[in-house]
Amino acid sequence: MNSAEKLNDTLERHHPAAHACLSQRGRRLFFPMGIPAQAGQAKEASINATIGQLTDGAGHAMAPAAICQHLEGITPEEATLYAPQGGNKALRAAWKERIQQSEAAPTSSPFCTVGLTHGLKLVADLFVDEDTEVLLPEPGWGNYDLIFGTSCGGNIIRYPVFDGHHFRQDAMRLALSKIKTKGVLVLNFPGNPTGYTPSADELRPWLEAIRESPKPIVVVCDDAYTGFVYEEDRITQSPFHDLAGCNPEKILPVKIDGATKELVFFGARVGFVTFGATGPAADALELKMKGAARASVSSAPAISQSIVLSALQNPALDAQIDKIRNVILHRYEALKTALDTANIAYFPFNSGFFTLIPVQCDPEELRLKLLKDGIGVVSFARFNAIRIAYSSARAEDLPLLVETLSKHISVDKDPALH
Ligand SMILES: Cc1ncc(COP(=O)(O)O)c(C=O)c1O
Repeated sequence: MNSAEKLNDTLERHHPAAHACLSQRGRRLFFPMGIPAQAGQAKEASINATIGQLTDGAGHAMAPAAICQHLEGITPEEATLYAPQGGNKALRAAWKERIQQSEAAPTSSPFCTVGLTHGLKLVADLFVDEDTEVLLPEPGWGNYDLIFGTSCGGNIIRYPVFDGHHFRQDAMRLALSKIKTKGVLVLNFPGNPTGYTPSADELRPWLEAIRESPKPIVVVCDDAYTGFVYEEDRITQSPFHDLAGCNPEKILPVKIDGATKELVFFGARVGFVTFGATGPAADALELKMKGAARASVSSAPAISQSIVLSALQNPALDAQIDKIRNVILHRYEALKTALDTANIAYFPFNSGFFTLIPVQCDPEELRLKLLKDGIGVVSFARFNAIRIAYSSARAEDLPLLVETLSKHISVDKDPALH
């Protein structure tokens, strides 16, 4: 048995759903006993002549002052030497502590990726073949199509998040029934571009349908916007935690999250992939992820991992993020008030960074008209809508945005959409 076959065998015994869902590429993947692995083993050696980086021979960095002069609060070693494959160990432990829910089932150690997009792509590499059904939310983030469809060739099936103004509670059972042999399901709350998070009651039928999925599935919970929820009756924890203890014959839950939005550190490119699996299954998945990452970006940037770790260790972090969230909350309220005053219909929104406005006209033409008036929004031809990212506009500018918008659209007074 070669290394990949051994991992496949471990998954078959310890996590049948993960094994059943592996793509052809996922089956081939393993982490070779190459330079990073051998260097990792030699970390404590008195003479470590393994890795191709420059040190003083005692583990200290030799980076030029022109680089190190920008560092404050992190050492040249933390910033300029390679981080381990899969991420800085202390950071992984700190992130695990952050996402761990007291009553929830145990999980794997979060695997550090180069932003969430990279995490989604690694998961797609492991689990998506040309005939794999990939269930995507509609409306949903466009990059899912590029990752799961264009790049990995999955068979995209869209499931509706809304019917008019309501969360579509029966959408999941129907969507799951379309999976022929194995599938990948993407959940995204708060959603992009919807800005929607369901209540626990709304989500319940989706969770029931997932638990009763007729075919093995990987459930990818894209939790990019964790924490940015503005209404009290909405779920505050990821569906990942509801699914983490699910039957491993049927379901592999995966959590994708990171510093990008959650810690308001967009340029850091620090994301995480955490599996609802433990023990030998989690170890096998980790080695496959390491193989996939090693073949693409290799290790993730050390400097931003060190900054995120230091932030997580800072007791002031949560209060600072709360303060930022309150600024966005204020924008959310300002936008809602302006839309209601102008009587403009919108899909329900209560969280995240966006609202999606359905329009009767061509959304791209509308976008260009707004641009001429000095207002940038995003158009979506497929959903006949425009997206307003109130996350990046001042609250006091939002009434003008809405006023300008209402001049260009025949105001949609569809009562179903308020
Ligand atoms: C739903 C969702 N997932 C993932 C991402 C990607 O995050 P990152 O920039 O860390 O790759 C985004 C970014 O817009 C997003 O909206």
